[in-house]
Amino acid sequence: MLASATSSLRTGAGIASKAVASATARRTLTSSSSAVRSATVASSSSSSLSPSSSSTTSTTTTTPPQQQRRGYASPTNPNSMATPVEVAQPDVRAGVGSKQGSGKNLLNDILASAPKHATSNRPIYLDAQSTTPVDPRVVDKMMPFMTNQYGNPHSRTHAYGWESEQAVEDGRAHVASLVGADPKEIIFTSGATESNNMAIKGVAHFYKSKKNHIITTQTEHKCVLDSCRRLQEEGFEVTYLPVQPNGLIDLQQLEDALRPTTALVSIMTVNNEIGVIQPIKEIGHLLKTKGAELSKQGGRGATKPFFHTDAAQAAGKIPLDVNELGIDLMSLSSHKLYGPMGIGACYIRRRPRVRLEPIINGGGQERGLRSGTLAPPLIAGFGEAARLAKQELAYDHAHISRLAQRLQDNVNSQLTHVLFNGDRNGYPGCVNLTFQYVEGESLLMALKDVCLSSGSACTSASLEPSYVLRALGLDDENAHSSLRFGIGRFTTEEEVDYVSEKIVKVVNKLRDMSPLWEMVQEGIDLKTIEWSG
Ligand SMILES: Cc1ncc(COP(=O)(O)O)c(C=O)c1O
Repeated sequence: MLASATSSLRTGAGIASKAVASATARRTLTSSSSAVRSATVASSSSSSLSPSSSSTTSTTTTTPPQQQRRGYASPTNPNSMATPVEVAQPDVRAGVGSKQGSGKNLLNDILASAPKHATSNRPIYLDAQSTTPVDPRVVDKMMPFMTNQYGNPHSRTHAYGWESEQAVEDGRAHVASLVGADPKEIIFTSGATESNNMAIKGVAHFYKSKKNHIITTQTEHKCVLDSCRRLQEEGFEVTYLPVQPNGLIDLQQLEDALRPTTALVSIMTVNNEIGVIQPIKEIGHLLKTKGAELSKQGGRGATKPFFHTDAAQAAGKIPLDVNELGIDLMSLSSHKLYGPMGIGACYIRRRPRVRLEPIINGGGQERGLRSGTLAPPLIAGFGEAARLAKQELAYDHAHISRLAQRLQDNVNSQLTHVLFNGDRNGYPGCVNLTFQYVEGESLLMALKDVCLSSGSACTSASLEPSYVLRALGLDDENAHSSLRFGIGRFTTEEEVDYVSEKIVKVVNKLRDMSPLWEMVQEGIDLKTIEWSG
């Protein structure tokens, strides 16, 4: 038993996959992670039993070098891998999360006091747009590169380097395949934030002598909007397109905004707050036709406006093909598709070639576009997540659609004055609902055992209504009363039922205490009321 655990750790494979019989075996995270835990313990005990396990033992052993290698327990702290991982480090969070004097961590307190769902010891997670759990099969894929196969993928002189490089190239091929790209067109980054910065600033800077105009939308992710604002400060002109009440852009408005000097159009594929899917193919076509025509008028050999899309919420969720859709640059994030955090990619078209100025300079890795040592464990995980997402896209979509519909049916059959935000044909795993006449913060407070995102964004001192919901035309009250339900691959029917029942109960209770709700029940139109003070 020890021998088999040790050998599976040598290869690093098969730890979690043994716990995951198939894609249909949903909710296997717990059993898998306990499999990883027990394997970890086995590893450390096997280390301590092996002749070479102690760094202080004599070196007169005759064991061949290959067998002396200890696996992945740290040479300086052989038991390190057996140490249970704490949820939070009090010193790191001192002043933020720690209670003064008590030395206890606020996060631990909250988690401990949050009511537990009947079948688990954790609150229910319905926040799949923030991040997704790492699929156990992805963990399996990553393990060897965090243990024995730790070479630098840029080391060209030995086998450790070559095997890491192979892992990187395999990962690249899977990511490319997910979006119909050539592997050479994939540049690894730390995530979609970096990819968005790279694409937008990189293209703008490279072509600035010819073109200085960028088009984006008002509902992009902050990292796109802030990159554009930065360029404005440098003298670029940026058009922020409004959206319609359903969150979709108006293609005519986009066409009207195009100029001979438009260098880049950056429009996200799936919105992270409302799940709206923009008409990407139509935008790609418009830029190839009208955009190219206008660019020609600008002269000086200027190319058509390049089309960048932030696909962080789309990749692995809906079918994407960069050639079919006419996309020139695309941002991807691993942790939105059941891969590890800290890794993403930027697709950059090679034919016709898109040029950009790198934002990170150094050793010239990634074709000089993104210097820095690549992270083979993260890339192997990202690649596996992409491979699985492609393989199981239809299954996941059907599972998620069914649960999203069930959630809405449960809620709508028991509550009135619930608004659906966004477009009905959007990505189903992102359900944004407004529970009118209920104060959003109170709603979230009453739902402590469910992890959800609200229609408010926390800035330094206040809860601001979401700029995305405001762009749809929601007033502050409705935006504040909104919740986003993020449903994912591992969400269960039971969880959805529990959450919807809880929402119904809490909304009814809060409305019962609300004078506004009483007025609405009496048929008073609140818009006609003149408030004093
Ligand atoms: C649409 C969108 N773009 C970009 C990002 C940033 O991604 P990352 O966390 O990989 O930097 C997110 C994450 O929330 C997102 O939802």
